[in-house]
Amino acid sequence: MRGEVSGDLLLIGEVTDVRGTKVKVKVYSQANEASVFYHGELVRGVSVGGYLRLPCGYDDVIGVVEGDYQQESRAVASKGADGREAPGSYLERYVDVSVFGSFSSGRFNRGIEVLPLVRSKAYLLSPKQLAAVNSPVEATGAGFRVGELVGHDGVDVRLPFNALFASHIGIFGNTGSGKSNTLCRLFTDCLGQRAGCGSSKFVFIDFNGEYTAKAVLCHDKEVYGPSTRTGAGAKIPVPPGFFFDVDMWAMLAKATEKTQRPFLKRCIRKAGAILEMSDPGAYLRGMVRKLLEDYCGCGPAFDEQREDLVRLFSLVPGVDVGSLERAIDSIEVYQQYNNALHKRDSGKLLYSPADVPEVFSDLCYESMDYSSLASDRPALLEFIARYRFIEAVRSHTITREHIAPLIQRYSAELREASKLYEPCISGFKSDVSVISLLNVNLEQKKIVPLVVAKTLYQFQKERGQNERGSSAHLVIDEAHNVLSYSSQRESENWRDYRLETFEEIVKEGRKFGMYLTVCSQRPADISPTILSQMHNYFIHRLVNDEDLRAISKAVSFIDSANASMIPVLPQGCCIVSGTATTYPVRVQVDVLELEKQPMSFDRDLAKAWGVG
Ligand SMILES: Nc1ncnc2c1ncn2[C@@H]1O[C@H](COP(=O)(O)OP(=O)(O)OP(=O)(O)O)[C@@H](O)[C@H]1O
Ligand SMILES: [Mg+2]
Repeated sequence: MRGEVSGDLLLIGEVTDVRGTKVKVKVYSQANEASVFYHGELVRGVSVGGYLRLPCGYDDVIGVVEGDYQQESRAVASKGADGREAPGSYLERYVDVSVFGSFSSGRFNRGIEVLPLVRSKAYLLSPKQLAAVNSPVEATGAGFRVGELVGHDGVDVRLPFNALFASHIGIFGNTGSGKSNTLCRLFTDCLGQRAGCGSSKFVFIDFNGEYTAKAVLCHDKEVYGPSTRTGAGAKIPVPPGFFFDVDMWAMLAKATEKTQRPFLKRCIRKAGAILEMSDPGAYLRGMVRKLLEDYCGCGPAFDEQREDLVRLFSLVPGVDVGSLERAIDSIEVYQQYNNALHKRDSGKLLYSPADVPEVFSDLCYESMDYSSLASDRPALLEFIARYRFIEAVRSHTITREHIAPLIQRYSAELREASKLYEPCISGFKSDVSVISLLNVNLEQKKIVPLVVAKTLYQFQKERGQNERGSSAHLVIDEAHNVLSYSSQRESENWRDYRLETFEEIVKEGRKFGMYLTVCSQRPADISPTILSQMHNYFIHRLVNDEDLRAISKAVSFIDSANASMIPVLPQGCCIVSGTATTYPVRVQVDVLELEKQPMSFDRDLAKAWGVG
């Protein structure tokens, strides 16, 4: 690489001071141009953020300019013929350079073995050298184009495919800074170049329906847009065991550890066992008959449980709730007859189980459609939970007040889940799936990404060990919704569970081929563990002090020149730093064609209002 440079055109000064990796270079007065022509190409002159090459023995040390200033000359200034000094002639220009890598044997390597010496010459980098520094793949010619190097027209930044996509990626920036465009650009190009090869799954969690349009990302993607309001829209595929995951449902139903969780666990196990039977419908019918038979000698209990019974029976498909309520209300309890139940019309008393068909005949419990109930998992699980609740309260094995709130929350969660998820063995149909949460309520917006992350991670964990070429990429735009550390509205248990799931993916996922890409406006809100474990960062404009602090903590190797640029980066410009780059590099990401852009464009109100 060194031999290519004919040298002196790019010579700009010499080293005057070396203190560790901080080097001071005196700039020759003739090198104060904004740009120079070099072999027909325009090369940017010395300025903050630019790069310099400092030859040292057989190697070329590369550094970035961090400061630019002038100092009074210490040399005795030669005075003019008239004995007066020309104004400014005693001022010299200096730049502070931080060295970070070197060219040796024609390759750019991050890290340095030798430092330049005082009086070493300093050169600008030719466009080819610039590309080699900022695009580690330049030598091989392959690689993924991320954008253009800022301030250097026509210099592409290319990063290695593997280092970029086989990694966790964090995209951060204020609203409107261009995050969604960058995210979309990266994955549109990636999916386009991949062209269906390999066995990778890409799942995009889209909070605002930005990625659902036909041309966005790729044409053959599958869009899931469930709605918690209407229950319409394609439901998200989940594994068949989803409704039987005790840990998860205990968390969703906020079950207390000591009393509610064991109860819930037994209910879920029971429902699982019923589904394994050869005729679950017949078994459920038998259960209901037994429930009613057990009221023999428990008349007052029946009185207390009227409402619970209505709720239980109304879960069976095809039941008319009005006539069910009337039937239950018409049953009277006569305590004086040995706690018997008495049915008003027939006068029949419940003295023995054999009396059940007549006493409860109006309930039509024998002819209810239990087979349909057994095939609807959320309904079956709620039925079993309510059934066991009634049974346990009647036999005084639990206290009603302890379990009733759990039943309420569990059934509410099950009903929401039945609108959102569909258990199936095959999982996501297409390689690329977009899950739009536009029509999902606030509470479920936090839960769905967690469910998807968990199931996708499980899926990839199982196949990742054997299929070495497989991978799963979970992309979450507006990730502060699910990764926030300081949300006040939720319980601590739930927050820990949510964060632990994502933290596990970030910490362990790579081994199984599971990669997370998160995009957020508030890096300060995101759990520090997740923030610091990202491999590659794309940092757009950020102005908030806390966010800047969070970023500087997580991305420690970002240099001070680049760090000071973060609050003033223009739209679409970002600092890329991480394992895919040799050095933090400022990139202008290309804007996508209109139809491929995510639905997040800036509004032109002046035009719409006809002003200006
Ligand atoms: N690389 C780019 N070059 C030029 N304009 C861009 C670029 N990226 C984004 N923009 C413009 O900036 C606007 C906002 O972009 P985008 O939706 O990507 O921002 P964002 O950071 O995702 O915002 P939010 O946090 O609100 O989702 C869009 O109108 C888009 O046209
Ligand atoms: Mg966005």
